[in-house]
Amino acid sequence: MKILVCDKTEAEAIERMRAAGLQVDVRDDISPEELFNVLPDYDGMVVRSRTKVRQPLIDAAPKLKVIVRGGVGLDTIDAEYARSKGVTVMNTPKASSASVAELAIGYMFALARSICVATASMKAGKWEKKKFDGDEIAGKTLGIIGVGNIGKEVAKRAAALGMTVLACDPYLQECEDADLTGLDDLFARSDYISLHLPKTKESANMIGSAQFEKMKTGVRIINCARGGIVDEDALYEALVSGKVAGAALDVFAVEPCEGHRLFSLENVIGSPHIGAATKEAQGRVGAEVAEKLIEFYKKNGA
Ligand SMILES: NC(=O)c1ccc[n+]([C@@H]2O[C@H](COP(=O)([O-])OP(=O)(O)OC[C@H]3O[C@@H](n4cnc5c(N)ncnc54)[C@H](O)[C@@H]3O)[C@@H](O)[C@H]2O)c1
Repeated sequence: MKILVCDKTEAEAIERMRAAGLQVDVRDDISPEELFNVLPDYDGMVVRSRTKVRQPLIDAAPKLKVIVRGGVGLDTIDAEYARSKGVTVMNTPKASSASVAELAIGYMFALARSICVATASMKAGKWEKKKFDGDEIAGKTLGIIGVGNIGKEVAKRAAALGMTVLACDPYLQECEDADLTGLDDLFARSDYISLHLPKTKESANMIGSAQFEKMKTGVRIINCARGGIVDEDALYEALVSGKVAGAALDVFAVEPCEGHRLFSLENVIGSPHIGAATKEAQGRVGAEVAEKLIEFYKKNGA
């Protein structure tokens, strides 16, 4: 079985696949145009976030039997279409959960104690001790929207920090470390709101001005899920007005983004979509990609 690795993948994972008998070619900087030319020769492909697998590419590769995405979510792949053509589509849903959860928790501390702003001030040669009065995380209420693999890891850590944890997830009956509640109750009671739901038609721009109105004044927002779940213009206004005291963003409506106007505000901190970017998560992603492809190969042969 011939596999094309289209995005950066752990060397160890490539070796494991080869050792299991798969013929693996690594073209992890391949352009979309070149991919159209070479993919027809392959039975399977490995992708991360960079390579998008849309209908025309699937149509151009009649031999394709399997697509494995290293990562959470399948929004970069026309998965339904691929499956309708008999292509198996898999991902690695849990490999990066702990890393994303740790980033969200880290952001809560960074917002509570102005760590990033204080660092910038020190680097500018200042000693603004009075400016950085913070508050403790313990005793505060965290509202988590979307309690799947990552949301559950966040809930567990927040509960251990002494927070009251509320969670809203219409598809969940119970949650060990959080009290399930409705969205409006979560908005009304939370000091921090962290998003861990997928971006869907339903969740696109689900946090806008009307929702900010329902929140406590001084609430802090953390989005390590997907850009565009929070309406960025409404968030800007809420930060300027002081309704929202701070926001930490790892994801954006349009990525990559440079010079985003939200970052002109001192109370916004963020990162360029690095939630899963830890050595541990990348190692687990690679191992799971290899495992899934080897299992597929064993079941489906050459
Ligand atoms: N920042 C990063 O680098 C990074 C890395 C990995 C995942 N993510 C994102 O994090 C999100 C969550 O990942 P996960 O692994 O926990 O996914 P998951 O599928 O395990 O959990 C998502 C949860 O959201 C719930 N949900 C769906 N629609 C909802 C809605 N409208 N309101 C409330 N809850 C809703 C689902 O029932 C589910 O329990 C995904 O969108 C994923 O893309 C970001």
